[in-house]
Amino acid sequence: MRPRRDTRRGPGKGSHGPGKAPHGAASQGAGKASQGAGKASQGAGKASHGPGKASHGAGKASHGPGKASHGPGKASQGAGKASHGPGKAPHGVASHGAGKASHGPGKASQALAHGPPRSGTPEGAHTSPRVPIPRGTPREGTWLWTSREDATEDLVEELRLALGAEGRVRVIEPGLVESRGAPTFDDGTIDVTFARQGVLVRESVGPDEGERLLAAFVAHVRASSGFVLHVWAPDTDAGNRRMPLCAALEARLAEQLAAIDPTLAARRVSGETRVIGDATLISIVSLASGGHVLGAQPLREAVSPFPGGRARMRVDSDRPSRAARKVEEALAWLGVSPGAGEVCVDLGAAPGGWSWALLERRARVIAVDPAELRPDVARHRGMRHEKKSAFGYEPDEPVDWLFCDMAWRPLEAAQLLAKWGRRRWTRLVVANLKLPMKQKAKIVEELRAIVHGGGFSRVRTRQLYHDRDEITLTAIR
Ligand SMILES: C[S@@+](CC[C@H](N)C(=O)[O-])C[C@H]1O[C@@H](n2cnc3c(N)ncnc32)[C@H](O)[C@@H]1O
Repeated sequence: MRPRRDTRRGPGKGSHGPGKAPHGAASQGAGKASQGAGKASQGAGKASHGPGKASHGAGKASHGPGKASHGPGKASQGAGKASHGPGKAPHGVASHGAGKASHGPGKASQALAHGPPRSGTPEGAHTSPRVPIPRGTPREGTWLWTSREDATEDLVEELRLALGAEGRVRVIEPGLVESRGAPTFDDGTIDVTFARQGVLVRESVGPDEGERLLAAFVAHVRASSGFVLHVWAPDTDAGNRRMPLCAALEARLAEQLAAIDPTLAARRVSGETRVIGDATLISIVSLASGGHVLGAQPLREAVSPFPGGRARMRVDSDRPSRAARKVEEALAWLGVSPGAGEVCVDLGAAPGGWSWALLERRARVIAVDPAELRPDVARHRGMRHEKKSAFGYEPDEPVDWLFCDMAWRPLEAAQLLAKWGRRRWTRLVVANLKLPMKQKAKIVEELRAIVHGGGFSRVRTRQLYHDRDEITLTAIR
């Protein structure tokens, strides 16, 4: 893996146009907030030049050492570190598994052979005497990432920025991107914004290789102390049509495993929580070619504990807004939530979905928004509403958490978060930053550099499942 610092590389010049508010900002902010937001807009627009320049410097400063210290050697070392368990299904296991399951693998093949086999040329790199793997199939030892369908290019751009040419980044199909190596923080944890899930590829199998897939699956289960199985296709129109087949394949593999060895089947645990110790995440990804990729990695190191990163948050229908899902997912991702009595400032709070989620946790909330909160949220005894622009608000004393879902230009919102850091007004930040522009990856680099410049020790960004043209940023002092 290729380590990446908290502060990523500096952005290229002219990569964005902060002059205009995002569309959402214009309609929501102006519509609801009328005069107050309009005034704030002017002030913030002026203020953005100074910090914007400073962040270019910071970005460049981090670029040098980052590049110098992490060559291709480290990239492969990192990938090596992450690899555990059997690299390939040992032949013995393959024949054992297939032999015991007798009629089973045939059924698995049926569930597997759901896509049109490609007539493409076999991969040159594959020399093993097996069914030719179609061109465009991920190779063993690489990383396969999945994103929103419309974020595929952002993911490609991000991976190329982080990994350089040796990352050999390529699109496998919409929503699926392959790279050699993974961008990581200095501590080795994966650092990608536009990927919902990442799979370290252990086995690539063709459309008619159900038995090989079963054998590889069994081998990885054997090598684990406990495992989670996710079978999925990318979250695209074409991928979603394959999801029923994925469910059938998952059920079939579970049945076959139980037939081969019930003690192995008993190692399966639920994957929607990280409190799982040393469980291995075994991912099987359905490809448009009809083939599959099998990946295995420690669950606690996975980008997401949800299949394909589809972290569907359920919230009660009486919540003030659907935006509540975003904060629920953000807190689940962060792994910590406000506790009872903790003070949270919520910038851009109206109508109150995020605030409600915090009040439910018995936190005290200061909602800062020129627009009205839903009356029941406004009346809550844990709530105080500062009916003004976030750019004109200062807390009376430092708070525990700063939340921000303000519909605003992202660079200026990031500068505001950095100001909260520099003045030590908050310990933690959870922010949703709107990115209506094309080529988002460079902007994300810049946003992180700006927030990092506010003195936060760990700045993370991710386009979460409930994020659309936006990303979630968390930071800790
Ligand atoms: C997407 S909505 C927030 C939804 C909210 N998080 C929820 O869960 O209900 C964006 C909000 O940003 C507010 N906003 C826009 N400009 C602002 C500013 N300068 N200061 C504070 N709030 C602002 C808008 O009034 C709008 O209520």
